[in-house]
Amino acid sequence: MILIDILKQHKKLNLTPFFSELEKLISEQKELFANPKGNSLKYSLALNNLPSIEPSYCQLDSHRVAVNSNCPISDKIAMELKSNLMELGPWRKGPFDLFGVKIDSEWQSWIKWNRFIDKIEPLKNRKILDIGSSNGYYMFRMAAHNPKMVLGVEPQQAFYFQYLALQKYLNIENIFCFPIPFDALPNLTNYFNTVFCMGVIYHRRSPLDMLKKINEMMRAGGELIIETLIIESDEHICLSPVDRYAKMRNIFFIPTVKVMESWLRKVGFCNIKTLDISTTDHQEQRKTEWIETESLTDFLDSKNPSKTVEGYPAPVRAIFSARAI
Ligand SMILES: C[S@@+](CC[C@H](N)C(=O)[O-])C[C@H]1O[C@@H](n2cnc3c(N)ncnc32)[C@H](O)[C@@H]1O
Repeated sequence: MILIDILKQHKKLNLTPFFSELEKLISEQKELFANPKGNSLKYSLALNNLPSIEPSYCQLDSHRVAVNSNCPISDKIAMELKSNLMELGPWRKGPFDLFGVKIDSEWQSWIKWNRFIDKIEPLKNRKILDIGSSNGYYMFRMAAHNPKMVLGVEPQQAFYFQYLALQKYLNIENIFCFPIPFDALPNLTNYFNTVFCMGVIYHRRSPLDMLKKINEMMRAGGELIIETLIIESDEHICLSPVDRYAKMRNIFFIPTVKVMESWLRKVGFCNIKTLDISTTDHQEQRKTEWIETESLTDFLDSKNPSKTVEGYPAPVRAIFSARAI
């Protein structure tokens, strides 16, 4: 079971000092899995009903993370695979190709990946944390760079179960995920060499507290890659939406570049660089058959797409790197 493997490898991963905290966390999670209810029951059934297929090879270093078999699967198995994968939707991050079943996710996640991968420290041999790892798309892309390990934390059950479904076939042994929010992760002090925190900070009521805890978990000299919605302005200001932003309920603070830089400095990061600033467009985020919900077109003012439906500036995202001291 994927949850337990991280402890089996604790010596190799230098996790022994945190063994008892991780063990406690895992026993709580096992409890949750022993009696699935509501959505977790639905997702557990879909996961258990995925057909057994022997994978022959996987491809992690291309836009579409893929796994395939030397013997082509029958149409019946392909339909079984697709219908159970669809039960695990909405598929926001991707794309993936599982034995020819192409998961066309809402986001073309490789576009973001390409914006930063050549601008950050090489990931080889690093211990990496991915906060808000969703279904693991970026963790699988990282795995192609031979890190020592990648740990994801993802509190939304649908995305966590998607990760388990993908791991069933990809079976990458040094990537792990906990179905918990970052706050619930024991403080693995001075542990990680690289931390990714992408698309999460604006969901936090207290972004500075989150950045401080991230900093504590990093080794001196480690690299943080943080991606956030931003407001384009030279001023030192932050948007705190009255209610929703682009129809999202849980958006608390959208900083300008200056504010993001000052938050990072305040909690002890240095060498802060802006790696990219991009406006989200319909190539990157759009509705597909793999999501039932709305997408970018529905979030923007149809008469003035430079504004959200609430009248705020349309989504622009920035990626920063920063060094832990
Ligand atoms: C906008 S998505 C970004 C996913 C991915 N990191 C990316 O950049 O494409 C935000 C993800 O963070 C997760 N999330 C929200 N709050 C979180 C928290 N406190 N700790 C960890 N993950 C969180 C959400 O469930 C969601 O999967």
